[in-house]
Amino acid sequence: MRILVTGAAGVIGFELARQIAERGDELVAIDCGKKGGLEDLDALRARHPQRVTVLHNDLAKGPLELAGRFDAIYHLAAIVGVQYVTDHPYETMVVNMRSTLKVLDFALQSKSGPFFFASSSENYASGVDAGFVKVPTPEDVILSIDRIALPRWSYAASKLAGESAVFGAASEHGLHPVVVRFHNVYGPRMGPTHVIPEMLKRVRERTDPFPVFGPEQTRSFLYVEDAGRALLTVLDAALGGAKGLFNIGSPHEKRIDELARTIFDVTGFHPRIDARPAPPGSVARRAPDISKLAKLGFAPRVELEDGIRACWRR
Ligand SMILES: NC(=O)c1ccc[n+]([C@@H]2O[C@H](COP(=O)([O-])OP(=O)(O)OC[C@H]3O[C@@H](n4cnc5c(N)ncnc54)[C@H](O)[C@@H]3O)[C@@H](O)[C@H]2O)c1
Repeated sequence: MRILVTGAAGVIGFELARQIAERGDELVAIDCGKKGGLEDLDALRARHPQRVTVLHNDLAKGPLELAGRFDAIYHLAAIVGVQYVTDHPYETMVVNMRSTLKVLDFALQSKSGPFFFASSSENYASGVDAGFVKVPTPEDVILSIDRIALPRWSYAASKLAGESAVFGAASEHGLHPVVVRFHNVYGPRMGPTHVIPEMLKRVRERTDPFPVFGPEQTRSFLYVEDAGRALLTVLDAALGGAKGLFNIGSPHEKRIDELARTIFDVTGFHPRIDARPAPPGSVARRAPDISKLAKLGFAPRVELEDGIRACWRR
């Protein structure tokens, strides 16, 4: 197969690119390097020079230099990260919407196969806090945005618009739509602004007492290697005709103070927890119902302890 991955230098994109290249498919990988990681992509190309092409392109600017049909397109490139989004809400809308529309236009014009759009649990997070979305959360829930003028919600707004554009292109032009909503995917290549690398940094600095923000909040964490496998599981199903929405995440809901204790066990550092309030706007609970994905034969394989150990080693 010939597969396009955008955002291929990112946490999820790179792992997906690696798995595609290693299973023997032809890969075209695009990333502008906004978050670094291009050297890993170049090393992947060096390992598989016959099958891997890397394009250092900014999808929000200039024309898309691509030709030919792809058997599948994974559009993962986006501006991500609560702090960056909060500081750059307009840039988030511009980059995420322009790049999605550009890759969608290309998919239609090239008559490519299943189009995967990387969406987010943020799209229903407001509904969980308002009490009308249940946890664990299935795919068919009401999507909503708490306060549209709040900069942090520009990310969810861009993802909602992206989902709508994908389904619009499907009903109007016959695109094969697959929207995957990721839930807290983590891994060793992740930048510092995420709860796991932040806690590991405090462990390295031997911070005691150890601040834990929103200890009563919950998340479910999926190791990136499992996320890559989940994406390929959904691809196999899509090639057999499956389409629509799929949650990708771990079904194991974990309190943030439990996460801290797991990190202490893995690293052998046992400070006193200093419980602090959660950051403003932070979502109280998040856990996906992954029964749709499980029916395709997927189950996470990497235990949280092992995933954290891999991050700690890095
Ligand atoms: N990691 C998660 O838990 C999670 C949760 C929900 C949704 N998602 C979505 O999954 C996708 C991948 O997430 P990730 O965690 O790997 O993020 P990431 O930030 O590690 O990767 C995103 C990649 O997109 C690239 N990119 C950004 N703008 C670009 C542009 N204009 N042109 C080309 N490349 C560009 C970046 O350089 C980066 O390498 C994103 O769309 C994200 O919104 C991820």
